Amino acid sequence: MVTISVIKADIGGWVGHSGVHPDLLEAAREVMEKGRKQGVLLDYHVAYCGDDVNLIMTHTRGNEDPEVHGLAWEAFQKATEVAKSLKLYGAGQDLLVDAFSGNVRGMGPGVAEMTIEERKSEPIIVFMGDKTSPGAWNLPLFRIFADPFNTAGLVIAPSLHKGFRFEIHDIQESKRIFLDAPEEMYDILAFIGAPERYNIKAVYSRATGEIAAVSSTERLSLVAGRYVGKDDPVMIVRCQSQFPAVGEVLEPFTFPHLVPGWMRGSHMGPIMPVSLEQARTARFDGPPRVVALGFQISDGRLIGPVDMFDNPAFDEARRMANQVADYMRRHGPFEPHRLPLEEMEYTTLPDILKRLASRMEDLDGRTATTEEALRAMPEMDVD
Ligand code: 13P
Ligand code: 13P
Ligand code: MG
Ligand code: MG
Repeated sequence: MVTISVIKADIGGWVGHSGVHPDLLEAAREVMEKGRKQGVLLDYHVAYCGDDVNLIMTHTRGNEDPEVHGLAWEAFQKATEVAKSLKLYGAGQDLLVDAFSGNVRGMGPGVAEMTIEERKSEPIIVFMGDKTSPGAWNLPLFRIFADPFNTAGLVIAPSLHKGFRFEIHDIQESKRIFLDAPEEMYDILAFIGAPERYNIKAVYSRATGEIAAVSSTERLSLVAGRYVGKDDPVMIVRCQSQFPAVGEVLEPFTFPHLVPGWMRGSHMGPIMPVSLEQARTARFDGPPRVVALGFQISDGRLIGPVDMFDNPAFDEARRMANQVADYMRRHGPFEPHRLPLEEMEYTTLPDILKRLASRMEDLDGRTATTEEALRAMPEMDVD
């Protein structure tokens, strides 16, 4: 069995929240290389998207292994020291605690892990998003594993014809449900159409029971109880044979769907598929973007990466994303470009309401008490 662990964190941006400084990647690589030499890791690749560092690791120690997670934590800490020395923006942003306690889950970083029996040939794609949130994968995962207009194999390949099982998490209540496509497709959509609450955590082949995809569902604000960053998500998807073909897995990203997480974590924007070279965000700190790195796994070694969106086939998606970005930007501070009150990462509204409380009146002109005015405020997780 081989485990693929993708662990990511924003440990400081260069410049602002736009990109990752190469010295951070180098610091992380040194720790990863130490882990490989010590035999903790079989292989690793240090990647990035926007201002997030993504550690892609293979090993034989299973999911949630303390040594592997400890190594990732150490890599982020070493890189944070570098980020602090360069005064990069938000150095150590996603490391919520000072001391590592066995598992990075709940400590800030995002995690996607799967333990698999390596097939005769094992193509995988690692997706890394920036300026977005874990719910961003709901739509593409549905298209890949349940939509016959996306994935021809669901209709014409005997190995895919039984469909896939979706593991959906209610991230507010910490509950999960397993639903089968195609029979329960409408139930699946009723949940995942609300990506702020329900995330597809994993997908399984119904023919073999094997895991097909896994995503990170960590929510920093739920962990920390306040705004600390934006949970830019990752996912791992296995391809070919009993799983969708590489091209079927990439196909949903030709449509730059709207996701939350743009500018100050408080705006909706189109998710743009980009190459590593274009992974740095720019316009209005975005638009939100996704990088796809392909690997063949060979006895646990990562043969790659291949930069899958570095291809003219995605030019039109990028163009459409720019058009949608223009359209959304013209709403300025209005919804649905700006997120609804409960979902904004931060806001001035409580302060404004407090300041103007004495001027808030009933429609008959009676002035409300400050208490009444504050009670009328929407519920928000803000400092
Ligand atoms: P596999 O059945 O070998 O995964 O090939 C599918 C394919 O032909 C890709 O287009
Ligand atoms: P990150 O979560 O990628 O650090 O982005 C912060 C932000 O809100 C930029 O506008
Ligand atoms: Mg940042
Ligand atoms: Mg980021």
